[in-house]
Amino acid sequence: MSSLGILISGRGSNMEAILGAVRDGRIGAGAAVVISSRPDAAGLGIAKRMGVRTSVIEPAGEERPEYDERIAGELADAGVTPEGGLVCLAGFMRILGPGIISRYKDRILNVHPSLLPSFPGLSAQRQAIEAGVRVSGCTVHIVDAGTDTGPIIEQAAVPVLPGDTEESLAARILAEEHRIYPEAVAMMAGGRISVRDGRVIRQKSTPP
Ligand code: GAR
Repeated sequence: MSSLGILISGRGSNMEAILGAVRDGRIGAGAAVVISSRPDAAGLGIAKRMGVRTSVIEPAGEERPEYDERIAGELADAGVTPEGGLVCLAGFMRILGPGIISRYKDRILNVHPSLLPSFPGLSAQRQAIEAGVRVSGCTVHIVDAGTDTGPIIEQAAVPVLPGDTEESLAARILAEEHRIYPEAVAMMAGGRISVRDGRVIRQKSTPP
């Protein structure tokens, strides 16, 4: 069974959705560790209440490879290996470097609050409102060396309504994140996803 490591920096609502799906048996994996880049992340308390090991790994002014090594060390210590483990970025506000990404090749997932490849990077909801799009949404993808560029596993669209603020649009998108992120993790944990030529291939489920 896969072991999950979840990386957060704040509220942790996607983390909670994933942990809830693990608890309810909708994801065939064990929750091994939640790592936060910030000691005051609200998600840490939620993870503790759900009985999951937590760890705070704050950037200490070191270069990115050294920081990533500390993350990789904690993942390995918790049993989240590149072979059987999965790493879920859930509002983790740090960019992982090429070292850890290649070590955990195709095993790191991210959720982003736009329909990628539109609006990568920060403030995706604000970017959508400023661009005047009528539809936005969220994307779960495999992390590669680029920023919000990896193979797409799942997307959900929501309308952008007249009068929407960044906050109102973010809330509408977040509800969809909570639905599709656990689904994507379940597909990965169940071995139903492979990557070919930079694109995700879904295996058809075989009848019993
Ligand atoms: C989510 O909306 C997630 O898509 C976004 O941060 C929020 C975290 O909320 N991530 C990014 O913008 C990454 N580029 P959460 O802590 O409640 O899951």
